[in-house]
Amino acid sequence: MKNIAVFASGRGTNFSAIIKAARKGIIKADLSLLVCDNAHAGAIARARRAGIKVALIKKEDLPRKRDFENKIIQHLEENKIDLIVLAGFMRLLSAEFVAKYKNRILNIHPALLPSFKGSQAIKDAFNYGTKVTGVTVHFVDEKTDHGPIILQEAVKIKQGDTLESLEKRIHKVEHRLYPQAIKLFLEGRLKIRGRKVENNLIISK
Ligand code: GAR
Repeated sequence: MKNIAVFASGRGTNFSAIIKAARKGIIKADLSLLVCDNAHAGAIARARRAGIKVALIKKEDLPRKRDFENKIIQHLEENKIDLIVLAGFMRLLSAEFVAKYKNRILNIHPALLPSFKGSQAIKDAFNYGTKVTGVTVHFVDEKTDHGPIILQEAVKIKQGDTLESLEKRIHKVEHRLYPQAIKLFLEGRLKIRGRKVENNLIISK
């Protein structure tokens, strides 16, 4: 079985969706570790409830990025981590870190990349007035919200939507899409060719 580390900074609802998918056997791997950079993150309580080890690594304690990342690497190596799953981890990883785990880091972003990169994507799309936004799961490369795309799903912005109602629908899609992408990875079904990811599974809604 492969070992997964989930990185999260906030509420951790995607983390919970991943835990559920592992319980159901959709994700066949050990959720070995939560890496968290925020002592107040809801994700920590979710990990404790699920019996998953937590590595709390705070920027305040390790202000130099290199020290911060070396500490993370130490935990990843101790736990023999094969795959890193970013689920609302709000610290950018250095090019060196990404190179070390090349093609073994996944991220979820609440917009249809390459539109609306950054940390406020749902709000940015809503305020821009787009009629369609969505969710992207992608491999992480050295540029922010940029690596090869694994799965995407569109979410329509309806007349009468509020930011909150849109957020709700986006999160619902995230919680379904991320476990599917992780499953594809674990089954060795994702082939990266340049910028493109090919998979041999047709996903039905
Ligand atoms: C998710 O919506 C995720 O897509 C977003 O943070 C949220 C975390 O929610 N990530 C980004 O914006 C990355 N650029 P969660 O803590 O409830 O899973």
